[in-house]
Amino acid sequence: MAQPQVHTNTGLSAKIDTSIAHEARVYDYWLGGKDNYPADRALGDAIAGHIPAIQTMAKANRAFLGRSVRYLVRECGITQFLDIGTGIPTAGNTHEVAQRAEPGARVVYVDNDPIVLAHARALMSSSPQGKTAFIHADLHDPDSILSDTTLADTLDFDRPIAIMLVAVLMYFENDDDPHGIVAKLLAAVPSGSYLVITHPTADFDERAMARVVHSAEDAGITFHPRTRAETESLFAGTELVEPGVVPVVTWRPDLAERAATLVADPESAWYWAGVGRKP
Ligand SMILES: C[S@@+](CC[C@H](N)C(=O)[O-])C[C@H]1O[C@@H](n2cnc3c(N)ncnc32)[C@H](O)[C@@H]1O
Repeated sequence: MAQPQVHTNTGLSAKIDTSIAHEARVYDYWLGGKDNYPADRALGDAIAGHIPAIQTMAKANRAFLGRSVRYLVRECGITQFLDIGTGIPTAGNTHEVAQRAEPGARVVYVDNDPIVLAHARALMSSSPQGKTAFIHADLHDPDSILSDTTLADTLDFDRPIAIMLVAVLMYFENDDDPHGIVAKLLAAVPSGSYLVITHPTADFDERAMARVVHSAEDAGITFHPRTRAETESLFAGTELVEPGVVPVVTWRPDLAERAATLVADPESAWYWAGVGRKP
């Protein structure tokens, strides 16, 4: 197995501070991982107090990630991915799903959390035919990602690329200009590229989500749920593939799920999800 290329942007600390909650570790806690600390579990539990089904919701989001990657490889011929807001490596990382369908698939991961960086070195090993790399960078500064030589060394920008922004844009207030950030990323990839987004929403339970926002803020984390229309607006410049922006569990459920009529209640996971194609 080839080891991935790892690059840290200057200016980002690689120091891991376990005394405060971190987004990646809270999510890892909900997914049943081991890479979390008391501060992460305290916030994870506080949020679970407001949304008892939060773990199932996190798993539903993760399952969508796998379905969307499989769809892109098998049905759209996509073999290159830029996965920003990677999370701590766990089962079903983007390159694993993609390379299972197409061993030559290439994936660049980006995350600003030093703990993800530490795990990326150890865990993200590619198939021999494909390639993976990790960039330690902050999505607030998309130019720092796009100008990183690791990116051009790994992905061919003359061929379509899927940009994955799965459960990450909620850490961006409108003042952070998430639309401008997405537009900049899209401008860098050729026609026929794709954009994948999931986004937590208060549309299904405004009061519970308001309490989540407060718990996150108390822990020093920005958390900005968005409505369906706001999530759709993040796809500006793309054509949404069917079925559009929908509850995450209803986005192209697996054939097996459909056959067994195991498709969950649309409101059982409070994320909007969609895939758009750059024309
Ligand atoms: C909820 S996890 C989602 C992980 C994965 N995309 C998934 O859906 O399974 C969010 C990830 O985004 C990362 N993240 C948060 N803000 C970021 C930023 N400004 N730049 C890069 N990554 C960020 C966190 O460190 C964390 O790993």
